[in-house]
Amino acid sequence: MFSFETLAKQFSDKFNTRHFPGTLPSLYQPAEYFLSIGGKRIRPVICLMGNELFDAIQPDAWHVAHAVELFHNFTLIHDDIMDKAPLRRGMQTVHVKYNESTALLAGDVMIVAAYDYLSKITPLHLPKIMHLFNKTAREVCEGQQLDMDFEERQEVTLEEYMHMVTLKTSVLLAASLQMGAMLGGSGEGNQDHLYAFGKNLGIAFQLQDDYLDAFGDPEKFGKQPGGDIMANKKTFLTIQALEAATPVQKKELLRLMKENPPDKVDSVLQIFKDCEVDVWAKNLKDKYLSLALQHLEDTAVISSRKQPLQELALFLVQREH
Ligand code: IPE
Ligand code: IPE
Ligand code: MG
Ligand code: MG
Ligand code: MG
Repeated sequence: MFSFETLAKQFSDKFNTRHFPGTLPSLYQPAEYFLSIGGKRIRPVICLMGNELFDAIQPDAWHVAHAVELFHNFTLIHDDIMDKAPLRRGMQTVHVKYNESTALLAGDVMIVAAYDYLSKITPLHLPKIMHLFNKTAREVCEGQQLDMDFEERQEVTLEEYMHMVTLKTSVLLAASLQMGAMLGGSGEGNQDHLYAFGKNLGIAFQLQDDYLDAFGDPEKFGKQPGGDIMANKKTFLTIQALEAATPVQKKELLRLMKENPPDKVDSVLQIFKDCEVDVWAKNLKDKYLSLALQHLEDTAVISSRKQPLQELALFLVQREH
């Protein structure tokens, strides 16, 4: 069994090569730039861990690992355009460093490269993997659209938020793990538990992402501090603040969201703190982490094999970047 660090290193050793031709540098250089600025490589690692729960890592699992990381990077490049984000992984985003059209196309060629990896999968496994991959990709688009729709709304319920983050974030983690498990020879019952583990863990992961966007150390987090507040994202922090606020605080929060004054980020953060949304956040995150871990426990595999996934889960919800 390999740890997160070992698998991330093994994956990066394979992944950190050129993915695109040397021709047309105006397109392929931005694409290579984005891939070269790193990232935690969580989705390929969770895929490899899914395989390793059941068997030694299969060549097909490496193909899927490459495909999910390329797909993820495609979503990030497009997400940064949608969210008007200047920074990612401590570096300039593609649309800022180059331009929006190039960023769109760099994302497009990346998803094509993802399908190139999928097409290498053995015929026995290809249809099931392709079906799950495509279903997931569609769901991510739906989640991203809901995220954009919610920016325009004054209030969003916690239930609606949970649905949105499940689509935009959780399903890719869940499917990456399930695809790895499938390729390792897992039965369907275990696949379902692992998918549910990934889904609940993904919610806890997005809760931490939203928390860090507001309260994280910008040096470590690598994104623009308060980016979600500036964009009027309906993160669970906003949702809970609107719920817990006094009438005066609520009025002020809605005013800040509408008028976008220069002190918006600091003032909203103050309201978040006054409403103790950070404390509430931790409890909610812990709830989804335990739900996730219960599904891992219910997976019928000897417990020593589950250790890397347990460690990964703890890392994802405690991370600072
Ligand atoms: C960022 O994902 C997008 C979200 C779903 C929150 P990661 O935090 O895994 O991004 P990288 O690849 O490590 O930069
Ligand atoms: C992004 O959610 C989810 C996807 C990219 C599909 P966020 O917009 O919160 O991700 P970050 O914070 O920019 O990484
Ligand atoms: Mg976004
Ligand atoms: Mg974003
Ligand atoms: Mg975010």
